[in-house]
Amino acid sequence: MAILLNPGPVVLSERVRQALLKPDICHREQEFIDLQNKIRADLLSVYDLPATQWASIVLTGSGTAAMEAMMTSHIPVHGKVLIIENGVYGERLTSIAKTHGIDHVVLHHAWGDVIDLARLESELQYHDELSHVAVVHHETTTGRLNNIDAIAALCNKYDNIPILLDAVSSFGAEEIKFAAWNIVACAATANKCLHGVPGASFVIVNKAAMTQMAATPARTLYLDLVRYLQSQDTGGTPYTQSIQVFYALAEALDELSDNGGWVIRRQQYWRRMDIVREGLQQLNIQASFARDASSCVLNSFPLPAGISYAELHDKLKSAGFVIYAGQGGLVKSLFRVSCMGEISDSDMENFIRAMREIVL
Ligand SMILES: Cc1ncc(COP(=O)(O)O)c(C=O)c1O
Repeated sequence: MAILLNPGPVVLSERVRQALLKPDICHREQEFIDLQNKIRADLLSVYDLPATQWASIVLTGSGTAAMEAMMTSHIPVHGKVLIIENGVYGERLTSIAKTHGIDHVVLHHAWGDVIDLARLESELQYHDELSHVAVVHHETTTGRLNNIDAIAALCNKYDNIPILLDAVSSFGAEEIKFAAWNIVACAATANKCLHGVPGASFVIVNKAAMTQMAATPARTLYLDLVRYLQSQDTGGTPYTQSIQVFYALAEALDELSDNGGWVIRRQQYWRRMDIVREGLQQLNIQASFARDASSCVLNSFPLPAGISYAELHDKLKSAGFVIYAGQGGLVKSLFRVSCMGEISDSDMENFIRAMREIVL
């Protein structure tokens, strides 16, 4: 079996894989409600969020479903969101706004650029009508970890504008300051830093903000978080959920907790990523960003001179490693390496050995 160094789905641990085989149950029976309740509570526990102020809503669907549910369920008809773009996923937030006719302005940056705080401040000053700011935490397009501390400080300065955070590729492994950043919703998924399987995603919502949204008309039927919250809070689910995927997510959350939570996971990821960064540097392949601007989850690297992505990918795959292409035009210039999942430091060392054979 290949070692997956793509940003999810991840190599599963045996205990998560075995959880997929638990008994068949009906999503309208108490057994499923217990499972859903456990997942909802455990998701809050990852960041020690009190259930008096926060709720998690679990959806059947990939990370994009959680992003779309967050955007459509939080920005009211008369609201307006500033969307910060510096990669594919920021641009996806804009596509969601366009698709649903959500009033928005865009603060665009080229993929990988640092978010320009001076430009952000002038947008916040000029647009005093904004109800929300939407931003991606870890922009997986390039591996840049956006500086949400600084962005949130500006949002707080201008009318305490609440943040909608795409944490699809950071939840469970990077710090997320829910209260200090004035987050009202945070979208994430089961099959990245939590090490579950694809098919379940979730939104952590601020309860007070959800109460306000209950008074405004829904923009979508299937992704309406108000409806989900009412149903899940009363021991139900509006629609059929992916039960086996939920089993795996529950087990993955137990495993995260048994292993010491997100802080330890972050340390593990950094240990693996440092092996990759330092090993590739010795082959004259320098990571795209300095360590303090990079996520622990995924880094991008320039393609070695004279080797196309396809060639590098295929040779590495024969050696047992699946890497990830750059998106769009970046396919010609970079490749990405992630270190999520049930993999080890020695897998990363073997990856470097395989790279050395290809490059030298
Ligand atoms: C930051 C970010 N947001 C959203 C998504 C979309 O997730 P999915 O492909 O599960 O719909 C991804 C996927 O890689 C991502 O990295």
